[in-house]
Amino acid sequence: MNDIKTYIKNNQTRFVNELIELLKIPSVSADSAYSQDVLNTADAVKKSLEKAGCDTVEICETPGYPIVYGEKIIDPNLPTVLVYGHYDVQPPDPTNLWDSPPFEPVIKKTKTHPEGAIFARGACDDKGQMYMHVKALEYMSNSGNLPCNIKFMIEGEEEVGSESLAWFVPRNKEKLANDVILISDTGMIANNIPSITTGLRGLSYVEVEVTGPNRDLHSGLYGGAVANPINILTKMIASLHDENNHITIPGFYDKVEELSRKERDEMAKAPFSLEAYKKALAINDVYGEMGYTTNERTSIRPTLDVNGIWGGYTGEGAKTVIPSKAYAKISMRLVPNQDWKEIAELFKNHFESIAPKSVTVTVKPHHGGQGYVTPINYTGYQAASKAYEKTFGTTPIPQRSGGSIPIVALFEKELKSKTILMGFGLNSDAIHSPNEHFGVWNYLKGIETIPYFYKYFTELSKQS
Ligand code: BES
Ligand code: MN
Ligand code: MN
Repeated sequence: MNDIKTYIKNNQTRFVNELIELLKIPSVSADSAYSQDVLNTADAVKKSLEKAGCDTVEICETPGYPIVYGEKIIDPNLPTVLVYGHYDVQPPDPTNLWDSPPFEPVIKKTKTHPEGAIFARGACDDKGQMYMHVKALEYMSNSGNLPCNIKFMIEGEEEVGSESLAWFVPRNKEKLANDVILISDTGMIANNIPSITTGLRGLSYVEVEVTGPNRDLHSGLYGGAVANPINILTKMIASLHDENNHITIPGFYDKVEELSRKERDEMAKAPFSLEAYKKALAINDVYGEMGYTTNERTSIRPTLDVNGIWGGYTGEGAKTVIPSKAYAKISMRLVPNQDWKEIAELFKNHFESIAPKSVTVTVKPHHGGQGYVTPINYTGYQAASKAYEKTFGTTPIPQRSGGSIPIVALFEKELKSKTILMGFGLNSDAIHSPNEHFGVWNYLKGIETIPYFYKYFTELSKQS
């Protein structure tokens, strides 16, 4: 397989250009104005899989956006790897903060990406990382280096909660049967410090509505005598953390696994500079739960954050009004063992219980999902580790991530297989933010590393 480097060298311009074409389609799943573009992206992914060497590719209809499924089965006795990724992207807003239009990809050099990075919404999350797998298949299939069976399942609703995929998976267990699931939709520490994501946080997302009087009121005539829903809502939200930044919802921490001192010491060995972290975010200090480090706060600890809050008058000038309603969207990041539905229920009960009689509160649970962990002694992890050793020349560090891919826990439950998260993005790639980008080096390194995963996974599976 030593020709992989040459293959990439000879084809890198085309690899980059193909990704750029895919990035031009604005597949924003959250906004129905883009629905045709989302569908067009599914078609483009289908064509790319056909070209890369899949024997069959289908567009599988669901109640929502379709799932692109493709496979190349070379021998039913060999292991099967199922690749998952998503072709939808986050909304580009606020678009005025982008240095170049989000769906007109450009390549620019940056400090962290001296060889250039592709700037576009979805470049890293997840079109770029998903497409590495398509190109890795192309190489393996053209060069006769595919050592096992491969299946692809690329969805179009990851950024809005994967509802259709949760519908699809239990209905297609046989089709999706596999020995391991492989995903590139996370990150690594740095280009010279590869890491493998061994954990994801769960998520419980709720929306709250606080209603006061039956209409907006003159704040002079009524102010002081009637509850202002925004005042009340902000006070209630503020009470959800105590002075140590612990979450105050009763029962919230009941199922949280406390890591041993040894495990925490092990985690603390991962390279991290607090100074660089603060500098990159232009903050004077970090902020979080007492008793935990920054890395622990974003991986092994659960959180509660307001994602948006609105109500009353926010237009130009001033309007003196007591609003009738106030709203907030709140997300809780969870750790393995915390159940997202149970947490949503605990939140609802608590939030309703702390509301004064002068308002009514409704809590609407949105989507969610369970957290996930992979043990590092698992064959799949070992195969991934060897693959990075081969192409990076150094052993990757296992690291739990703060982000969520809720469907991963569902894969384990329904398909009984473990997931390996080989992410090649960097935290500084600005996913979900303006100026999202993906390093060209990272993209090509991913394409180079992935085929080795197949090789070592097949070899190690034969031995065990
Ligand atoms: N790819 C991300 C998740 C991610 C990014 C995990 C980096 C680890 C490192 C995914 O597309 C995402 O954004 N997930 C959402 C959850 C989803 C239900 C909207 C998230 O984490 O907010
Ligand atoms: Mn993603
Ligand atoms: Mn995302």
